[in-house]
Amino acid sequence: MDVKTDVLIIGSGIAALQAALVLEKHFQIQIVTKSSIYMSSSYRAQGGIAAVTSEEDHIQHHIADTLKAGEYHHEKRHVKTLIKNGTEIMQNYLKDGLPVDRQVDGKPALGLEGAHSHHRILHAGGDRTGQIFIDYLLHKLSPKTKINCYEMAYELLRNTDGDCVGVLTKGEKGTKRYLAHHVILATGGAGALYSSTSNFPTNTGDGIALAFRAGAAISDMEFMQFHPSLLWCKNEAKGLVSEAVRGAGGIFVNAQHQPIMTGLHAQLDLAPRHITALALFTKRAAGEETFIDITNIQDFEVKFPTIAQLCHVHRVHLQDGLIPVAPGSHFLMGGVIADDKGRTTIPNLYAVGEVACTGVHGANRLASNSLLEGITFGQKMAQFIIQKGCHQKNFLLEKHQCADKMPPLFSKPQLQQNMMRFLGIVRNMDDLQHFVKQLPSLQSLIQVNLKGLELAELELFMMHVVATLMAHAAITRTETRGAHIRTDKPEMESHWASRWIIFSQGQMKVRNSLYEYHQTRGNAQAIF
Ligand code: SIN
Repeated sequence: MDVKTDVLIIGSGIAALQAALVLEKHFQIQIVTKSSIYMSSSYRAQGGIAAVTSEEDHIQHHIADTLKAGEYHHEKRHVKTLIKNGTEIMQNYLKDGLPVDRQVDGKPALGLEGAHSHHRILHAGGDRTGQIFIDYLLHKLSPKTKINCYEMAYELLRNTDGDCVGVLTKGEKGTKRYLAHHVILATGGAGALYSSTSNFPTNTGDGIALAFRAGAAISDMEFMQFHPSLLWCKNEAKGLVSEAVRGAGGIFVNAQHQPIMTGLHAQLDLAPRHITALALFTKRAAGEETFIDITNIQDFEVKFPTIAQLCHVHRVHLQDGLIPVAPGSHFLMGGVIADDKGRTTIPNLYAVGEVACTGVHGANRLASNSLLEGITFGQKMAQFIIQKGCHQKNFLLEKHQCADKMPPLFSKPQLQQNMMRFLGIVRNMDDLQHFVKQLPSLQSLIQVNLKGLELAELELFMMHVVATLMAHAAITRTETRGAHIRTDKPEMESHWASRWIIFSQGQMKVRNSLYEYHQTRGNAQAIF
């Protein structure tokens, strides 16, 4: 069964909804999402949205914090766009009535998070920021924008000119073919590749896998951010304990209530995440338990209702003043290479939000910059598509050449445990080599025929595509930078500065820029 639309958006987080809101005034929009509209990292976001709204703060400070936290591995012009345009968009949302938490004088109450030099985190409902923002956007969306839930996109469709013109999806009712003038990937990240994660189980990096198989360029896959504080009960991660808790006075401690971030790490409870996550990982590897001491925080339940509820469900008693925490996967800095208009290296295919790699997060994202990324680039991409219009005439699909059988794969739990062990917070060459030998080859991942696979099989395959890209990138970057920590190469190496590991057409290359491209038919084409 074919569904035809002007613009197809795959995913339903903040970037998808922001784009839909702008686009629906001009075109017919179809959203397709893998699960419920509420199962996105955006909806789960606790901390908030970083934006410059106070007189003490300045855009230059926010830019400087972003670059420092990400170890200067950025596309700097995109960082400037993110902070400048993002701040303007947020100021408009505030004027428009977005219900953020406010002080008694009516000004927004601004939180503090890791690596921010100023209080600048806008939040809503205490720690329910994502939920409130997504509900606000959904409420604004017109009913003419169609939303199909519980359909997983598994193959992008290109026409005989190479333009992206649609996607195949699989849902409980079987396979569907969507055809569109513009196809937007807003599928989120890949935290669920790991056994300990803050992400929903559906965050399996599908958009990256789809784009890679279709031939789009992918980069920065070695940079997975681990959040230092996931609620840890019965040897499992149970959800996020926001960095805002430490911004409000929480302190990392061991079971004896001694501060963890001491010595070299003095006063660094709010250091960038790669530093705090490594410190907690090191303690736990030495057999210690790790906690956040919340005794300094008044009215915890009022400030952090989601976290209080999570603790209650898992029988963690807040009156004891200690929340057990451990690090886990949280945000992928890498993804499908896209410019500030969302354009990928495939004509009419766009990527926005966590699935995209625009170079704004560097080697380690600054806290609360991701919702800002979603609204900023979601809006810029939508404006570009409006300007371009819907003029595709060629919906004749290129012949499918995928003929290979499925290579051997790990089971889902095996893969997640191996990712944690071999591609986790710390990595080394021997482990990575051992792991990559057990994963399919880059070429074979492109050639496998996915026809007839069940949903769970498709998802497991997508996870292996993403894991393989991550493993190759982590082996290749022989240094430590940001979230990519190599115990055998513990220093940042100058020859790796401003070097990007880029995958395209089944090959991997190291490049001096994310955007070594020439213009072909108006779209950015990576050179290989
Ligand atoms: C948090 O609330 O700690 C997470 C915020 C983020 O990842 O930006």
